[in-house]
Amino acid sequence: MNELRTICEDGDAAHPSVLILDQTRLPAQTAFVRLTNLEQAAHAIRVMQVRGAPLIGATAAYGVALALSEGIALEQAIDVLAATRPTAVNLRWALERMRRVLEKSAVATRHDRAWQEARAIAREDAEANAAIGRHGLPRLQAVGRRPVQAMTHCNAGWLATVAHGTAIAPIYAAHDAGVAVHVWVSETRPRNQGLLTAWELAHAGIPHTLIADNAAGLLIMQGKVDLVIVGADRIAANGDTANKVGTYLKALAARAHDIPFYVAAPVSTIDFACPNGGAIPIEERDGAEFGDKVSRGDTPVANPAFDVTPAQLITGIITEQGVFPAAGLAAIKR
Ligand code: MRU
Repeated sequence: MNELRTICEDGDAAHPSVLILDQTRLPAQTAFVRLTNLEQAAHAIRVMQVRGAPLIGATAAYGVALALSEGIALEQAIDVLAATRPTAVNLRWALERMRRVLEKSAVATRHDRAWQEARAIAREDAEANAAIGRHGLPRLQAVGRRPVQAMTHCNAGWLATVAHGTAIAPIYAAHDAGVAVHVWVSETRPRNQGLLTAWELAHAGIPHTLIADNAAGLLIMQGKVDLVIVGADRIAANGDTANKVGTYLKALAARAHDIPFYVAAPVSTIDFACPNGGAIPIEERDGAEFGDKVSRGDTPVANPAFDVTPAQLITGIITEQGVFPAAGLAAIKR
């Protein structure tokens, strides 16, 4: 699908390292950063050189492996990485999986086992997202018009994952199957992740149009959108879904105009221990993300990075196990 990778191992046994595609430089520059230690991995997540829930999880797993290579204790590594970003549950999911596996392995083999498990997490994420594409494809094929008019928010393409993407995976699958699709891409202020989606779609040759976030309601009202499909950072057990701030407004507009609103995410994004959206921690980011003109002035800034879409506004949650009603997540195998 594309020749670039968001994350891959590099180096050798004596000098292990991980290469990441630096998303803070995209779309202007395609640049890679080499991670050689725990602090660099934590920094990459914190400043969003890597971003998107599944990729944050995979990077954290590699962060643990790098930490063990440095001789840092497992618990310390987990604490540092867990504190980087609060909303994307894939981070905690990956760290807990690393802890479970590594606590069982003998100290002498722990280091190798950490790299093996990080590799498995990365591989499984790519496989899960490919399956999301296959399960989501019929939802696009079922739309009567061509091109299918899809709307998305933020970036939930391959950049946000190890490969394939989540919300964009069914769009890639449709494109590969010869189903014409046009994507409305919302800019996603303040970090402009929509530009990443536009960049991805341009590379794949998929027609798309960038819009200001506030244009979404109008386009939906005008009948220019057949379905909305977004990713997720954390899905509560009752189906309430945290995703990039602005998602909820799209879900409200979709419901008001009776078009489907899908969430696409791997099972690793479902937090079965979290009862509902009210219990999801919402990351508050620095006001500097609004740009110099605002953050250097006296204007107070609030910058919540995510919002929560209630389960009742969600038509279906597309996972690697199939499409589930948001209120039916109990049927998912864990
Ligand atoms: O702050 P970000 O860019 O990490 O937020 C990303 C999103 O909100 C994505 O939509 C979500 O993580 C799903 S990614 C497959």
